[in-house]
Amino acid sequence: MTNIKEKLEELEKEALKRIGGVVSVPGLETIRVKYLGRKGELTSFLRSLYKFTEAEKKVLGKKANELKSRLEEDIENKKNILLKGSVQGKIEEEWIDVTEPGIKMPLGTLHPVTKLMFEVKDIFKSMGYEIAQGLEVEDDYHSFDALNIPPEHPARDAWDTFYLTNGLLMRPHTSPVQIRVMENRKPPLRVLAPGRVYRYEAEDATHLSVFHQIEGFVVDNNVSFSDLKGTLSSVMKSIFGKDVKLRFRPSFFPFTEPSAEVDISCVMCGGNGCRSCGEDGWLEMLGAGMIHPQVFRNVGYDPEKVSGFAFGMGAERIAMLKYRIDDIREFMKADIRFLEQF
Ligand code: DAH
Repeated sequence: MTNIKEKLEELEKEALKRIGGVVSVPGLETIRVKYLGRKGELTSFLRSLYKFTEAEKKVLGKKANELKSRLEEDIENKKNILLKGSVQGKIEEEWIDVTEPGIKMPLGTLHPVTKLMFEVKDIFKSMGYEIAQGLEVEDDYHSFDALNIPPEHPARDAWDTFYLTNGLLMRPHTSPVQIRVMENRKPPLRVLAPGRVYRYEAEDATHLSVFHQIEGFVVDNNVSFSDLKGTLSSVMKSIFGKDVKLRFRPSFFPFTEPSAEVDISCVMCGGNGCRSCGEDGWLEMLGAGMIHPQVFRNVGYDPEKVSGFAFGMGAERIAMLKYRIDDIREFMKADIRFLEQF
């Protein structure tokens, strides 16, 4: 009997020690099962009480039942402590200050040339032009022959061309798009063809070997040079402001007749003369003219029945003047400090 009593006391000591030391809820459950489960040590003891005498039962039963209540209570308390600890821990770990202002994510911007091209496209679209895309890898025929620049003609030297080993070339201008569109379509046409071009040329502050042109042309029954003047004049005013003036100088392009080089009044000095315009007051902007009858014949149009104008301008050059950039190579550097200004 004393022996059994001692055993119970030992069980109590051991159980309390375990409950005190356990650090997780599942660990605590294991302890509960060990003592209070259906086959637990204390449960088994209570079940074996019938073996004892009435007097022994009274003493041992009381003690064992008290121990049972004590363990149940301790386990419950410990469980609350562990649960509270884990929830509390989670709350602390996951706490965020929703009033903090936050970190601004840097947003990308459009490249200034892309921006300029979007703007010019919008201007022409508002005048009823469609946008056409040609090929960057072109052939001789569409780049030159069909544009009235025969092989061996000295005018070809004006386009320093990258030739590929398969006989094709990187287009040195966007004018071949005129041919590609007219070959496949009938007038009336009002087309804008912006795109990348390639020149076998040394780069400097005003030249890149890969740059962009914006080509445009109109073909219809009665297109005149004054339509060309009116169109370019309103486009330049849209880009540079309504005070800008245009000047048409006679020039030569094999694919237009007559041909003109178009200047605008200097955007820096307003035409008074400054360093940007070489004290001249004018800036050269683009080439243009009336589409040559031979070009029409080359695409199967009758030059007696249709007429048209065409023009081509450098996108980087316009962007430089509009955004006041003095070195064309800036566009290719991918320097974020430069690019994020636009
Ligand atoms: N293709 C010419 C160039 O690269 C620019 C040009 C001039 C285009 C006159 C035209 C034009 O359509 O009519 O220099």
